[in-house]
Amino acid sequence: MKNTEKYRTVIEPFKIKSVEPIRMTTRQERENILAQAGLNPFMIKSQDVIIDFLTDSGTSAMSAAQWGAIMVGDEAYAGARSFYRFQEKVQDIFGFPIVIPTHQGRAAEKILFSTICGPGKFVPNNTHFDTTRANVEFAGATAVDCLTEEGKDPSLITPFKGNMDLEKLEAVIRERGAENIPVVMLTVTNNSGGGQPVSMKNIRGVSELCRKYDIPFFFDACRFAENAYFIKLREPGYASKTPLEIAREMFSYADGCTMSAKKDALVNMGGFIALRNEEWAQQFRNILIITEGFPTYGGLSGRDLEAIAQGLDEVLDEDYLHYRIISTAYLADHIAELGVPILQPPGGHAVYVDAKAMCPHIPIEQYPGQAIVCGLYLEGGVRAVEIGSVMFGTYDESGKLIPAPLELVRLAIPRRVYTQSHMDYVVEVFEELVRNRDALRGVRIVKEAPVLRHFTAQFEYV
Ligand code: F0G
Repeated sequence: MKNTEKYRTVIEPFKIKSVEPIRMTTRQERENILAQAGLNPFMIKSQDVIIDFLTDSGTSAMSAAQWGAIMVGDEAYAGARSFYRFQEKVQDIFGFPIVIPTHQGRAAEKILFSTICGPGKFVPNNTHFDTTRANVEFAGATAVDCLTEEGKDPSLITPFKGNMDLEKLEAVIRERGAENIPVVMLTVTNNSGGGQPVSMKNIRGVSELCRKYDIPFFFDACRFAENAYFIKLREPGYASKTPLEIAREMFSYADGCTMSAKKDALVNMGGFIALRNEEWAQQFRNILIITEGFPTYGGLSGRDLEAIAQGLDEVLDEDYLHYRIISTAYLADHIAELGVPILQPPGGHAVYVDAKAMCPHIPIEQYPGQAIVCGLYLEGGVRAVEIGSVMFGTYDESGKLIPAPLELVRLAIPRRVYTQSHMDYVVEVFEELVRNRDALRGVRIVKEAPVLRHFTAQFEYV
């Protein structure tokens, strides 16, 4: 294998054909911008951001081949050639015969859960992503997270911290009754748990339990290629398999998946549901036609379907995946060397800073994660997102904050967008931040929405 040449720099395995300028800002400008945004980076214009680590979703750089495919998109309302190319590619990788396009991941979730869930139903998952949980709950059912205990320990280094706790899963099935569990979901990689992978052994274990109790098993497949590559690197018996072979094996144990193509299909918009059960598919298509569109385009243009088909090929390229995983670890290792406490080991798509450990001088009620997010922006125009008590905190009857279990800051890395020198720049920003960490200040919320407050909340320094 070419990329075992570990003594060499892992270069970006692409040449840059098209560029998007980054506007440089001064610290003084950023102070004004952040103040105007109410200390909330979601409210900052992207043109005022130097390095944007808000999300890896929909932010990928497309390849020349994807842009080329866009030009040949067939925009027929029904039976477009582009749909058949897309369908064939999904069938080839995922192995599910039925493929239903949607405009993004949460639209696939909405269709799945609104069909099969309802009051009195329970959906287990290693960890529900927030839109997944919201769609389960919106359908009247209860979302249950069954992550292993080791997955909850930020500093523990083990290979598969995204694994489902099989004992917990079986206990939930017994307690709630298999007839009340319409589906078991497994999120690969586990985004909300730090982008940690799930092992093939664990996938097999979930599958066996689902067979035993006759419960359908679905993947939340957003980052399936990154998960497949972690299996190749870390699980005995997989080193000589290709990412495609590993992905095929992963999905062979399941009955279907929801997918946000905005991650591991390397596109800016798109998603799908793929499955084996024709009866469910009929019901899904009925909702699809009302909410998304005709089953051969489902909320997407023909050109989007082309770009997804091409992206799914490219994402499984081993040189790409090697660069992807190594470049995330590069950022993680370098900021960890500076003494920044991070969630270990680094995940596939993001680096998570443990804000509580980095800023012990800021009480939880003053949101240490938000303080770091503000510091990153002021110091270097780096946009990150708080994943802690701003995002998941609630209040008790007396109005006291019930904090989230962890106070994290996520640096999500867009695919194929930034080079190693961009990463070096972010490391330098962290160096400065660590040097002045005592100067980071806590914040209080001055305005917030009743749900998903992190998007629009306004803050001021305490
Ligand atoms: N499932 C997971 C695991 C996700 O990470 C996301 C999106 C979705 C489902 C929903 O997909 O955005 O296409 O509707 N995650 C993005 C993020 C938004 O920033 O982590 P979507």
